[in-house]
Amino acid sequence: MATELPEPEPRKHVQPYEPFSWPNGSTLALGQSVSGEMLDFHRMVLGRHSRRTFTHLSLEKLEVLLSMCCRAYSWSTSDLGFEQQFRGVPSAGAVHPIHVLVQRNRQSGWERYDPIGHTLIQVQGTSDFAIAARDSADAIVPSGDSTLLALVAEPGKTAAKYHFPESLVWRDAGVIIGALTWGAEALSLNICPLGATGTPFVSPIAFKGVMVGVGLVLIGGRPE
Ligand SMILES: Cc1cc2nc3c(=O)[nH]c(=O)nc-3n(C[C@H](O)[C@H](O)[C@H](O)COP(=O)(O)O)c2cc1C
Repeated sequence: MATELPEPEPRKHVQPYEPFSWPNGSTLALGQSVSGEMLDFHRMVLGRHSRRTFTHLSLEKLEVLLSMCCRAYSWSTSDLGFEQQFRGVPSAGAVHPIHVLVQRNRQSGWERYDPIGHTLIQVQGTSDFAIAARDSADAIVPSGDSTLLALVAEPGKTAAKYHFPESLVWRDAGVIIGALTWGAEALSLNICPLGATGTPFVSPIAFKGVMVGVGLVLIGGRPE
């Protein structure tokens, strides 16, 4: 199952492209009236940006962010070989094939977020990989005191339920990245997703092909 895709790399020279020109048609102008209880949310979403300077991310805010975006609030047994989960974000088939690894400090190894226990569990022997991931992130965006997240897909889980699972796995990763950016904004944190998949820094954790990197994310406090 070919879920591992080549690392994206910015072109040295952009390749200009003329976007498709949609034909004209009758136009419905949309209003912007937002009801009272949605006003703050609407304002928050429109105020979101990728922000690339970071102070230390407190454990208290990390807990809330992980709880909102990654925690399982219920689960049920299934014939898939593992439980199906229900979280603040959707996942194809309630499979949730994306693990979240956390490097809280520049020199530490990966910790795995356990979405059922709502705990961080050290992944033994991964310091070198996590530090290398940090160096690689630094080459894209200086990561300062941020926390580094690696989103790691276990495509075999989605393949237990679907033929051709690849696109589902990537869409699940996108859902989590979107949720993290909204969650970070709600918590007044700075966040920047990175284009790197992170595969070289997470795949050695398991046998080849079991774990695939589907994105790195930097999150930190917002400098004054
Ligand atoms: C999948 C993905 C990959 C991204 N990769 C990078 C990256 O490698 N470096 C970077 O500085 N920003 C990266 N970004 C952030 C985008 O540059 C940013 O979303 C875009 O400039 C629009 O800005 P905004 O997020 O403030 O709306 C990435 C965003 C996404 C969703």
